[in-house]
Amino acid sequence: MDKKTRILGIETSCDETALAIVEASGGLKNPKFKILKNLVASQIKIHRPFGGVVPNLAKREHLKNLPILLKKILHSKFYILNSVDLIAVTVGPGLEPALWTGINFAKALTDADHTQTNAEKIRRKSASSLRKSAIKLVGANHLEGHLYSFLLSQKSRITHHISSIKDIFPAIALIVSGGHTILLLMRSLTKWKKLGETRDDAAGEAFDKVARMLRLPYPGGPEIEKLALRQAQGKHPRGTINFPRPMMHDKSFDFSFSGLKTSVLYYLRDNPKAKKADVAASFQKAAIDTLVYKTIRAAKEFGAKSVMLSGGVAANKLLRKTLKTAAKKIGAKFFVPDFKYNLDNAVMIAVAGYIVHLRKKRYKLAAQGDLGI
Ligand code: KG4
Ligand code: ZN
Repeated sequence: MDKKTRILGIETSCDETALAIVEASGGLKNPKFKILKNLVASQIKIHRPFGGVVPNLAKREHLKNLPILLKKILHSKFYILNSVDLIAVTVGPGLEPALWTGINFAKALTDADHTQTNAEKIRRKSASSLRKSAIKLVGANHLEGHLYSFLLSQKSRITHHISSIKDIFPAIALIVSGGHTILLLMRSLTKWKKLGETRDDAAGEAFDKVARMLRLPYPGGPEIEKLALRQAQGKHPRGTINFPRPMMHDKSFDFSFSGLKTSVLYYLRDNPKAKKADVAASFQKAAIDTLVYKTIRAAKEFGAKSVMLSGGVAANKLLRKTLKTAAKKIGAKFFVPDFKYNLDNAVMIAVAGYIVHLRKKRYKLAAQGDLGI
């Protein structure tokens, strides 16, 4: 019978405190995940007045939320925690003060000799029910979490869709979040090469900055999407403004979004009466065009059997739809996680932890703000 591994995932790299319990099986050949618990405490309301994430506020909130979330898990499914085999905690990339809260929390759960502060006593009380000696602790890479979240899509359930995970490679993976825009060529679940990345702003960052120009609240991505949907109901569904698509046609697989963002700024300065919905839709279209164009060009060039999309910006419906259609056109399979696994969560960290653990690759258990992929 397939050996099952119960994993507690911990995520505190930015403005979401998240804990999850995931049951993994199948190994690297046919990984499968059953999500037993997925808790996310969002700090959006706390950071919103500042128009972005404030690292020290994030740290304070993580410290407050972590024991609360753990208690919730204990109360609802005590027996589950009692049989945790592995703890996976995000070690980077992200905000270092925020990352440390998760790492120290994970250490407190596994390390009996940790000095006890008051907050830790609460954690320890909860932790006392864990089989300390048997629990392994691994560091997880947040970007690998996003990357592997394609395994969490209903449609991508490997057994339903394809006979073996090998059949989906080579694959082109696009990771688009608030901090990153990365294009990878995946040869297997554990071997990949970075083809390109953003040279300036990340795609999500551009959405957030343009949203701010339009006086929309943080985080801007979903707000731009909502506004663009209003435009979509009119005569010019994708917007009327022809914003530039920087680097779309150059030879590299890199991206650039700062020029696009600046064009929006100048457009708003020169057209104070511009329709916000039109600006949002036109900007969104320009950003998506570049992302899709380069991803598909890479897929064609490397004969990809599939295309994967992940990260916060992958929650954008138009991006999902456009990339899916384009992938289909070239005969590639398309994988995107279910909506709830696009934004930061601890399920994807548990998944990344499982794979790192199987690979026997080890990340240092220390905050690494600039950790790459
Ligand atoms: O992956 P994520 O939750 O956090 C990071 O690791 O950065 O991504 C957050 C980013 C934000 O910039 C947010 O504006 C963007 O994802 N985002 C979206 C949408 N939902 C979130 N961008 C475009 N459309 C959306 N629906
Ligand atoms: Zn993220």
